[in-house]
Amino acid sequence: MKSIEEVIDYVRGRVVPTEAQKERMLEEVNGAKALIESAFSKSKYQVEVLIEGSVAKDTWLKGETEVDIFVRFSPEYEKEEVGGVTISIVKGVWGEERCVERYAEHPFVTAYAKDLKLDIVPCFKSKPGEWKSATDRTPYHTEFVRNNLSREEKDEARLLKRFAKGIDVYGAEIKVGGFSGLLCELLAHNFRSFRRTIEAMSSLKLPFLIDPANYYLGKEADAYSSFKSGLIVVDPSDERRNVAAALTQTKLADMMAASTAFMKDPNTRFFYPLRRPLSAIQLRKAIRRDGRQLLAIEFGKVNAPPDIFWGQLYSARDKIQNIMKNADFNVTRIVAWTDEKTSSFIIMELESRTLPLMRKKTGPPVGSPHTQRYMDIYAAGRGVVGPWIQGERFYIMTRRKHLDASPYLKKALIEYARTGGMPSLIAQRMRGKVRILVDEQVSTLAKNRGAAQSLTEFLDGRPIWMINAYG
Ligand code: CTP
Ligand code: MG
Repeated sequence: MKSIEEVIDYVRGRVVPTEAQKERMLEEVNGAKALIESAFSKSKYQVEVLIEGSVAKDTWLKGETEVDIFVRFSPEYEKEEVGGVTISIVKGVWGEERCVERYAEHPFVTAYAKDLKLDIVPCFKSKPGEWKSATDRTPYHTEFVRNNLSREEKDEARLLKRFAKGIDVYGAEIKVGGFSGLLCELLAHNFRSFRRTIEAMSSLKLPFLIDPANYYLGKEADAYSSFKSGLIVVDPSDERRNVAAALTQTKLADMMAASTAFMKDPNTRFFYPLRRPLSAIQLRKAIRRDGRQLLAIEFGKVNAPPDIFWGQLYSARDKIQNIMKNADFNVTRIVAWTDEKTSSFIIMELESRTLPLMRKKTGPPVGSPHTQRYMDIYAAGRGVVGPWIQGERFYIMTRRKHLDASPYLKKALIEYARTGGMPSLIAQRMRGKVRILVDEQVSTLAKNRGAAQSLTEFLDGRPIWMINAYG
């Protein structure tokens, strides 16, 4: 077994770019920035073009090629206008075929320029507290990290980002609900090193407050009462915002558990997990061997920005869980997945896919105001069995309407899609034709590596870091 310092040193070598790599990156990005500046100078818009994100903060991971460039407009313009202008000017620079328009919470455009993937994002030059768009805080975040994190802390943030990626909790987007780059940076700054952050995470007691700009110094109680959330990291550029607001309870708990496991048995696999998806044939065998009770709905191709589609997929997942519960089907676990392109599905495991005809139903307590009415309804045998009295209550046995989960779900989904009870994109894909897969049939969803990996992890039931740590 390697020591924790050996593991960390090894990973540090893999995530911290060399000086030459940093220089090369800045050269290329400055080149792109100059092209954007010159294109804008020929328009009527006076803008500042800023290098932002992890390249500006010196917290990017070696080998990564994604760069954030912001175009800052005067707040007198409207959101739609700056979005449209940025997109058309960027297309003019790199050509339509190398640009992808993106629209989620805000518009932006991705340009594939040489070896870099540039996210070019419009924002406004707003004063703190007078934000016009969600992206206006970013330049202030960048400033804070540049001015307050030491060079060592930036490298420690890189380690934390890599760890978060390895255990599948990196990114604040809806898909993940995890740790953003900024959150990792502020944690590394607060605890001063990767190792101490992990130690803190492994014994974290909630709520926990971190306030890098000391807005709540001496009045911490105010922070606890206004955020009411597990992990509170006060935004250094906005005392009313929690940088960890998008972090779900589940992803925080994942981080805490993985940190505990890492401290006990440090291993580079936490940072670089081995993913070994089972083939469709292996999946089928495993499902049959253990008599797994599975149900999946396949949706196919996606035509929407990732944040929007993931949001709808998650909302459909929660609705489906309720649909199942309404008919007594006990869902042990339900997961939604999409590769954001050609395939998407929701898969669940049930305690049982089929139910017995009869079920026990609890009635009112004897002596309650409903006593007479209850007997009027059920005593003549409408309950099929009973009512009998046991302890203080009435009980009956009745017949269930739905005994087989698959046809029940199919009917319910078609009905929901028709009456507007499902999110629009999901409903669109279900109109009239819902494909439900049962038990071994689920293995046919393993059409590509990503889908196979997702199914493999679903069947295993453990997070990837646990599979790697315990084999
Ligand atoms: N951002 C944004 N819209 C985008 C891309 C980025 O608003 N399309 C903003 C984010 O909200 C964040 C900053 O730009 O404030 C940088 O985002 P991101 O690239 O996610 O984080 P980094 O710190 O650059 O970390 P990474 O190394 O993962 O890129
Ligand atoms: Mg970035």
